[in-house]
Amino acid sequence: MKGELLLLSNAIVLLQVVCSCPDKCHCHLSTHFVDCSQQGLAEIPSHLPPQTQILHLQDNQIYHLPAFAFRSVPRLTTLNLSNNSLSNLAPGAFHGLQHLQVLNLAQNSLLSLESRLFHSLPQLKELDLSSNNISHLPTSLGKPWENLTVFAVQQNQLQQLDRPLLESMPWLRLLLLKENLWKCNCHLLGLKLWLEKFIFKGGITDGVICGSPDTWKGKDLLKIPYELYQLCPLPAPDPVSSQAQRPRSAHGAVPRPPENHSSGERDLSECELKPKPKPANLRHAFATVIVTGVVCGIVCLMMLAAAIYGCTYAAIAAQYHGGRLAQANEPAKMEGKNYQPESFNLK
Ligand SMILES: *[C@@H]1O[C@H](CO)[C@@H](O)[C@H](O)[C@H]1NC(C)=O
Ligand SMILES: *[C@@H]1O[C@H](CO)[C@@H](O)[C@H](O)[C@H]1NC(C)=O
Ligand SMILES: *[C@@H]1O[C@H](CO)[C@@H](O)[C@H](O)[C@H]1NC(C)=O
Ligand SMILES: *[C@@H]1O[C@H](CO)[C@@H](O)[C@H](O)[C@H]1NC(C)=O
Ligand SMILES: *[C@@H]1O[C@H](CO)[C@@H](O)[C@H](O)[C@H]1NC(C)=O
Repeated sequence: MKGELLLLSNAIVLLQVVCSCPDKCHCHLSTHFVDCSQQGLAEIPSHLPPQTQILHLQDNQIYHLPAFAFRSVPRLTTLNLSNNSLSNLAPGAFHGLQHLQVLNLAQNSLLSLESRLFHSLPQLKELDLSSNNISHLPTSLGKPWENLTVFAVQQNQLQQLDRPLLESMPWLRLLLLKENLWKCNCHLLGLKLWLEKFIFKGGITDGVICGSPDTWKGKDLLKIPYELYQLCPLPAPDPVSSQAQRPRSAHGAVPRPPENHSSGERDLSECELKPKPKPANLRHAFATVIVTGVVCGIVCLMMLAAAIYGCTYAAIAAQYHGGRLAQANEPAKMEGKNYQPESFNLK
């Protein structure tokens, strides 16, 4: 009798696992949609229907995701965890979600993400990490994340974003970056170059507004002139040519986007993008102006002197001439007078 009861209860538990819905959730079994949002949940409810494809867990207080947190729902395609209290994710938290396409982790308290996390989601198309406290993302993912088209990290604490990470997302269409603490120094050159190419290819972004240094605060990264980046060491394509590629020449060409970046921008020095060339140019310009002014002044003085001399000379000459003319006129008149009669005489 006891054994039968046990069997029965086991069967009931099994039945619950297969068909039931967790207390605080609404399960729409026909559409494989389970809604557990706004229930004050502190952790992932157990006994989720294994067929679940869309799982809403937003607006709860879930603060921790253990490894394999979604092992019981391997068919998930959409997982919404926005507006929870997640501050860290176990590296294997999303393991087993081979079909997940949309993951919303917005409005949590995440501080950083590991590349292992990304690797466990091969089919992911949309990742929303906005409104967290993320100050660090992986430098690179190592291999391309082929299906990702939307990557949102706006409203975080990011100061830089490494180009190799973005290059791991070759099919990205929408990239949201606003309201971070972008540090517009040499580290962001890679991002600038990548963004230009991205926009050129039709990608959409909300832009990068610098948070520091003070010189560039509030400025759009894409509008910072290229000339200022000439002081930056280029992200080296390979260690051999890295020394030969430092663009130091004042009139050198715009640094070209290197096609290959295995070592990434990591070895860039902490080079601030201060508008240094400008004061130098200004000083140069001032010097030019002063020299020109002095030369002009001298020339003007010389011309003035020449003019005065000329005038004086002309005046003296005129006076002299005048005297001579006066003297010379008389004989001329006389000659004329003499001549006239002569001509008369000739006539
Ligand atoms: C976040 O969830 C809480 C409940 O946990 C809710 O009261 C609040 O309105 C939600 N915030 C937003 C922005 O949706
Ligand atoms: C996730 O939930 C948030 C808050 O309710 C909502 O704004 C957002 O559109 C949802 N995203 C998805 C992909 O379901
Ligand atoms: C973000 O982190 C800072 C410290 O790094 C902390 O003061 C702040 O409260 C955090 N904000 C959130 C929303 O967790
Ligand atoms: C991307 O998605 C397609 C189907 O949507 C799938 O066939 C392909 O394997 C996915 N790419 C990767 C790298 O998993
Ligand atoms: C990048 O470098 C790797 C070896 O480091 C090489 O196999 C690959 O062809 C290079 N890609 C380009 C675009 O040069």
